[in-house]
Amino acid sequence: MPRVLSGIQPTADSFHLGNYLGALRNWIPLQDTHDAFYCVVDLHAITAGHDPAVLRQRTRVSAAQLLAIGIDPERSTLFVQSQVPEHAQLAWVMGCITGFGEASRMTQFKDKSAKQGADRASVGLFTYPILQVADILLYQADEVPVGEDQRQHIELTRDLAQRFNTTFGDTFTVPKPHILKETAKITDLQDPTAKMSKSASSPNGIVELLDDPAKSAKKIRSAVTDTGREVVFDAENKPGVSNLLTIYSALTGETIAALETRYAGRGYGDLKKELGEVVADFTRPIQEQTKKYLDNPGELDEILAIGARKARAVASETLRTVYDRIGF
Ligand code: ADP
Ligand code: NA
Repeated sequence: MPRVLSGIQPTADSFHLGNYLGALRNWIPLQDTHDAFYCVVDLHAITAGHDPAVLRQRTRVSAAQLLAIGIDPERSTLFVQSQVPEHAQLAWVMGCITGFGEASRMTQFKDKSAKQGADRASVGLFTYPILQVADILLYQADEVPVGEDQRQHIELTRDLAQRFNTTFGDTFTVPKPHILKETAKITDLQDPTAKMSKSASSPNGIVELLDDPAKSAKKIRSAVTDTGREVVFDAENKPGVSNLLTIYSALTGETIAALETRYAGRGYGDLKKELGEVVADFTRPIQEQTKKYLDNPGELDEILAIGARKARAVASETLRTVYDRIGF
């Protein structure tokens, strides 16, 4: 079976619809066709300053949400990154074959460090993509299901895997990104040209899986659209309405064309109101399941401990080969 690896940061109290539609929903079917490794990447979550108690809680909430959306520990390996020390160990090795200029070209680092100010941005934020390279290569992943914003990091992963293989002998599988075209970039409800992101300027721009349904309905009702009235998909000229249609379609499985027909002659208000109901119906069971896992901390710890053991078995074998190849 081909392998798949992906991770998500525990840097918010809830995942948002961009995370879910762009990446996480793709993790679910891949459990049946691939040997799947999914991790909560807490090492990545300390690159921009954090509170230990908050991080600990968010790591648990993240794992609980993954279980709630349908990540099944019987059919995949679910673990917390820091419980597998090989991630940091391989990251060091990969950092040593990465060019400083090459790392400096990562646009996500440029964006984030520009926001924080060059002097405040940490070295960890700079080397973050190299840790991500290690996350993927440790498991010899064939595919990495992510949103569009991660494409450049997967490209770096491919380059470094090939470079290592050429220099030290064939060691790593060279992975491919697995990006869902329609939902590769869900946009911010308040700024439909920017991606929906937890670091967005307005909290009203993101819909969180654990938001109270009334709250997400309100955010959707106040989403920025345009001055027209027609519900048609036109990403360039009507990015707000198009984003709402994309979310609606992805959550219900209805085609955009069918939605355009349904809302023909009705206004944006109807679309927004009904999308609020769709989102509520979608998030309610996820919220119940998340709570169930959080209410049973022993069970959650056990699932993650088993996942870490399974992950380590694979990761330690890769690291052993790497150390041997490089002369350790
Ligand atoms: P964030 O971008 O909110 O900081 P992460 O970096 O933890 O979230 O991303 C987790 C996953 O969600 C990644 O695969 C990323 O590509 C995907 N993702 C994040 N935001 C979006 C979005 N707005 N649209 C599509 N996918 C997204
Ligand atoms: Na991201």
